[in-house]
Amino acid sequence: MIEMIWAMDENWLIGKDNVLPWHYPKDLQYFKSKTKDAAVLMGDMTYQSLKSYYKTKPLPFRKIYVANILPADYPDAIWVKDLFHFLKETNEDIMVIGGKTIYQLCLPYAKRLYITFVLRTHEGNVYFPRFNLSDYQLINKTIDEGLIFTVYERIST
Ligand SMILES: NC(=O)c1ccc[n+]([C@@H]2O[C@H](COP(=O)([O-])OP(=O)(O)OC[C@H]3O[C@@H](n4cnc5c(N)ncnc54)[C@H](OP(=O)(O)O)[C@@H]3O)[C@@H](O)[C@H]2O)c1
Repeated sequence: MIEMIWAMDENWLIGKDNVLPWHYPKDLQYFKSKTKDAAVLMGDMTYQSLKSYYKTKPLPFRKIYVANILPADYPDAIWVKDLFHFLKETNEDIMVIGGKTIYQLCLPYAKRLYITFVLRTHEGNVYFPRFNLSDYQLINKTIDEGLIFTVYERIST
């Protein structure tokens, strides 16, 4: 199954250049709890951003796939050259962790969405691509320190 996880504010903002526009420890904690034992898929920009954040420490995921059109050699990750082929053919449970481009390309394949709604607006320049959230059913919602943690599942047609 393909799942996706992201945090966005009231304007669907998700990034400021190549970093998060905010620092919410509760959301980082939530993200870690959902991804630490997972096989994750991300774009090259998000991978580079995480690498500069973790510096020499290993990235905290069980298995890492990185999508990049250009040939790339990742010491700790598997290069995904053909994203659509990968999404169609994989039998693994995959958690998509960003960024904008990869979210947009993966959304049609995603069955479950973990969306953290960050209240208020923030400064930044990268937005989650608009889509119809009513195609999904809310299956869980918790509120903690101004963050709304939601889980949605695609309504099967
Ligand atoms: N708020 C959140 O939860 C959250 C989470 C993660 C990231 N973000 C934000 O998202 C932003 C980064 O997003 P981004 O869109 O710039 O970068 P990205 O999605 O991380 O990476 C884009 C990469 O995807 C590759 N790509 C595009 N189409 C492809 C295809 N069909 N097959 C394989 N690879 C393909 C591109 O390759 P080429 O370079 O070769 O074109 C590029 O390397 C940052 O601001 C970050 O902070 C926010």
